[in-house]
Amino acid sequence: MDLAIDPAKIIYLDNAATTFPKPHEVLEAMLDAYTRYGVNPGRSGYDLCLVAGDLVVETRRELARFFGGTEPDHLVFAANATDALNIAIQGLVGPGDHAISTTIEHNSVIRPLNHLRRDHGVEVDYVPVGADGRVDPEAIASRFRPNTRLVVVNHGSNVIGTIQPVAAIGRACRERGVPFLIDASQTAGVVPIDVGAMCVDVVAFTGHKSLLGPTGIGGLYVRPDITVRQTRAGGTGVNSINPFHLEEYPYRLEAGTPNVLGIAGLHFAQRYIAGRGMADIYHHEMDLFAELQDGLAAIEGVTLHGTTSLDHRLPVLSFTVAGRDPADVGTMLDVDYNIAARTGLQCAPLIHQQMGTGERGTVRLSVGPMNTGAHIEAAISAVSEIAASARAAAHR
Ligand SMILES: Cc1ncc(COP(=O)(O)O)c(C=O)c1O
Repeated sequence: MDLAIDPAKIIYLDNAATTFPKPHEVLEAMLDAYTRYGVNPGRSGYDLCLVAGDLVVETRRELARFFGGTEPDHLVFAANATDALNIAIQGLVGPGDHAISTTIEHNSVIRPLNHLRRDHGVEVDYVPVGADGRVDPEAIASRFRPNTRLVVVNHGSNVIGTIQPVAAIGRACRERGVPFLIDASQTAGVVPIDVGAMCVDVVAFTGHKSLLGPTGIGGLYVRPDITVRQTRAGGTGVNSINPFHLEEYPYRLEAGTPNVLGIAGLHFAQRYIAGRGMADIYHHEMDLFAELQDGLAAIEGVTLHGTTSLDHRLPVLSFTVAGRDPADVGTMLDVDYNIAARTGLQCAPLIHQQMGTGERGTVRLSVGPMNTGAHIEAAISAVSEIAASARAAAHR
């Protein structure tokens, strides 16, 4: 595959899909590690295998600590957040159970729950978020039933950027002994997560967004006193004589050869995030985002959806332009301005239905660690021209 355009000329504002570009030092270090010891870890006793195994163990330790976890082995790797969420949801909920979630979820939560509902008789409640895009912890608590076995909530929205009050929801779950799972796809790496302080039982993360690793890696941190049934079985590299999958962590929820290149990426990205400072990355993104949001809000014919509050917020916004289909706006941004945006429902249909954008969706812009003020100015100017052309067309 060849690119028709120099990636440096693209104004990339689709960081909620995946952060891009990745820090070059992360890419170089992971490739170097993979070049030197990219073998199957934990399977044999030769040096390369031991070093690869050490990388996996060390990255488990770093990420467990990063999420406030106490047990490195309870940090398990998966292919991405979707994979991790499927492992957690299917391992926590079964026939006859009830689960509570919200209307701000991604399809990686909605679809596994809906399959359990359709195929296994699981009951599911989707609690609507308020006009501010946040769910009321009391509204979740009011849905508890004797057979409630899971509350799963999106920590940060990939559509309107709202961050949910997970600590309050976690306390309500803990009081009733109901496992609490968060989808930290959008928050991990940019918003602090502490499973202890937030009463979170299971965190699902993806590696390629704010954790700044490559695609193809993600995982779960599972608090030791939570039982997640294992739903997949296979090779673990140890205790091969056992006819069944191992019950102990990390093997319990992992099967097959891990993504060593992806794990290396997460390891070196942890160094990058620590060096730059997670809070500094967040402030960098939010400063640019505030400028972007103000700029778009001032354009005639542009509607911002969700909330404009900068509190409890990620640098993600959804907008529409009067008289223009969101998909067309996305194409104009791409073709005429080299701006990468996401359009449509962003894999989160329930929040769009709630906002009244369920048919055509919105245009989403999302700021990342590599964006600059020039990118924001270019985006505001492009949307301004697109809105002006829509106004002119309406008057013809
Ligand atoms: C909130 C949310 N959950 C889950 C996912 C799924 O992540 P992945 O595609 O890495 O599995 C995404 C990705 O866009 C997301 O934004």
